[in-house]
Amino acid sequence: DQKKRFAVATQRYGEGSSTRGMTEQEAWENHQAQKATVRFGAKNKKQASDGYEFVFDDLGGFVETSNEVETEKHRDRDSRTVAEKDKEERNMLPIHAYRDELLKLIEENQVLVIVGETGSGKTTQIPQYLREAGYTKRGKIGCTQPRRIAAMSVASRVAQELGVKLGHEVGYSIRFEDCTSDKTVLKYMTDGMLLRELLIEPKLDSYSVIMVDEAHERTLSTDILFGLVKDLANVRPDLRLIISSATLEAKKFSEYFDSARIYMIPGRRYPVEKFFNKLPEADLLDTAIRTVFQIHETEPLGDILVFLTGQEEIEKAETKLKLRMIDLRTKSSEIIICPIYSNLPTELQAKVFEPAPKGSRKVVLATNIAETSITIDGIRYVVDPGYCKLNSYNPRTGMESLLVTPISKASAEQRAGRSGRTGPGKCFRLYNVKDLEATTVPEVQRANLASVVLTLKSLGIEDVFNFDFMDPPPANALLKALELLYALGALDGKGEITKLGERMLEFPVDPMLSKMIVGSERYKCSGEMITIAAMLSTGNSIFYRPRQVREEYLADIARMNFYTENVGDHIALLRVYNSWKETNYSSQWCYENYIQSKSMRRARDIRDQLAGLLEKIGVELTSNPNDLDAIKKAILAGFFPHSAKLQKDGSYRRVKEPQTVYVHPSSGLFTASPCKWLVYHELVLTTKEYMRHITEMKPEWLIEIAPHYYELKDIEEARPKKTQRSGRSPMSKVGDTNKKVKRY
Ligand code: CDP
Ligand code: MG
Repeated sequence: DQKKRFAVATQRYGEGSSTRGMTEQEAWENHQAQKATVRFGAKNKKQASDGYEFVFDDLGGFVETSNEVETEKHRDRDSRTVAEKDKEERNMLPIHAYRDELLKLIEENQVLVIVGETGSGKTTQIPQYLREAGYTKRGKIGCTQPRRIAAMSVASRVAQELGVKLGHEVGYSIRFEDCTSDKTVLKYMTDGMLLRELLIEPKLDSYSVIMVDEAHERTLSTDILFGLVKDLANVRPDLRLIISSATLEAKKFSEYFDSARIYMIPGRRYPVEKFFNKLPEADLLDTAIRTVFQIHETEPLGDILVFLTGQEEIEKAETKLKLRMIDLRTKSSEIIICPIYSNLPTELQAKVFEPAPKGSRKVVLATNIAETSITIDGIRYVVDPGYCKLNSYNPRTGMESLLVTPISKASAEQRAGRSGRTGPGKCFRLYNVKDLEATTVPEVQRANLASVVLTLKSLGIEDVFNFDFMDPPPANALLKALELLYALGALDGKGEITKLGERMLEFPVDPMLSKMIVGSERYKCSGEMITIAAMLSTGNSIFYRPRQVREEYLADIARMNFYTENVGDHIALLRVYNSWKETNYSSQWCYENYIQSKSMRRARDIRDQLAGLLEKIGVELTSNPNDLDAIKKAILAGFFPHSAKLQKDGSYRRVKEPQTVYVHPSSGLFTASPCKWLVYHELVLTTKEYMRHITEMKPEWLIEIAPHYYELKDIEEARPKKTQRSGRSPMSKVGDTNKKVKRY
């Protein structure tokens, strides 16, 4: 009877959450097995609160003294070697049963689209199967990931499974970090890195298989890769292409790759009960935390996964959770908080994958990294506030920003599914799924395209408008990219890549930043420019801001030491780096000056790499630390399109665009008396459009450095502009197709 009800229930959960691929009997057995552990968990919790005694055993877990059987089992399990355990675990993955079938299909089909539930083993197993089948004798297996952290963690997992040192047979490559060697045959990398490899090795001759993984994420680089590898398949019949995805967009992928064969890996998925909030919540983060405790107090053991928008929110949540634990007298052994986001230091990343000790549960605070890119075992509950951060780009104004955006229905399903991987799960949604859009707009339609257009040009793709995009970007976004690259001197009047453009491409940074570096040759300050570029590329803040008011005050004073004479943010960053270098890269110095030593070490590492690239393109490493004008001009050589002029009301106006912008409160110039003209690194949109990292400049430099871009009348004070000038090229009259992007 129960069995029947279970069958009905699994059916009722519909397409997203059925136990697809299992017979009814199998699903039932799984369910029973799961229930047994649930009961055990519940018993545990009750006993804990009844004051049962626990002892700490030497294996590091909490074990009940009274439960001999379980203790024995526990020992038993752990007496196996890591390799044995891994092998067993590997063989239990859903993909295992389809290994031979998969290999046969890959052999027979040059392009294969593989769809499989997240966690079924696509990323970690397929490359290993290919290796076992001998593909690595012909070349490397390359597997792309949209996220750095996924590339790193998956590579380290696979290295562990194979019992090899990471960076030897199995390695990864992400921007500014290459953990591979001559031995590497299984190479995980970000999609952006494979794009860069194409520049050096256009036919990817050293690879026998390319697996474009997480294809459903539709990142900008992945979309560009689609077009390039599709082409490559024609000239390299021996190359195998695997496009793998967690969702059902497979049909679209297949059509794009000339009706490529689709293979669905039957996944295991348990029913997920979904709860949702009917009322809009005032404070979502608070509600999320309250939900976590509600689960903790009323539900059987099992880990909780909370989806948050970014590092900042995760840190806030961590603080709130800890405070509430104190309030509720929750034992610190009961809840183990594990944050996971892309900038989390590597040594802390491992913690999230470690099983929670017996009697406790992990609360994983994750960005949408945990949606499909990485799988954390043991999750039984998902708390989903329903937001993520997405970048958006307005080709009209050149404004780029990260916006907190409601997720799509597809994402909501993925997130919920994370709770039903190893047993029936529960998902607590703090929104109504009806309000969501079906899918997310692909990044190519909401991104700044300057960098990829330059890459395409270098690969000899002259007509970027006719590039084989799976979903084409708005025409004016392509135009804007071409205009910018032309203004920077990376493309010539015919739209062909210049020598300068080729040199810029050597640097794995955005075109304006690479122009700043390459252009500094003229001002004899390449050393300063790579320092500034490195400091801007760490992905983390340099200055440490404590939470307490008094400490905050001291930190601000320490920071302003680097800003004497109102030098601006770029030069302040340069001073920070140089002072740190003078102390022989001392962490103590960082601590005393409220500087994040981790960011500094990363900056040093990036700077070393940029120095190497300078040498490669034959630019001498020169230093000119006292000529601030030269340094500012070099910055302007790359960032001249980002100029702004003070208005009467204290706001700024972009020189070439009718757009009002403000100095970001984090700028060292925020409290200084305002400078009339400035250049900024980037715009960020929060409550207003803010300029971040700014430096004062002289308007005549604009004419000196970019005479093709600025005219005298742009910098003349008296003559107000009557009409908006948008016509740098006649082509910019193409209609505004930006509407597609606007969904926020
Ligand atoms: O790619 P897909 O989502 O199909 O699965 P996968 O990433 O290959 O993960 C297969 C299994 O490997 C997961 O169930 C995790 O248990 C494990 N894994 C892990 O423990 N640590 C990682 N860094 C990655 C995967
Ligand atoms: Mg995967």
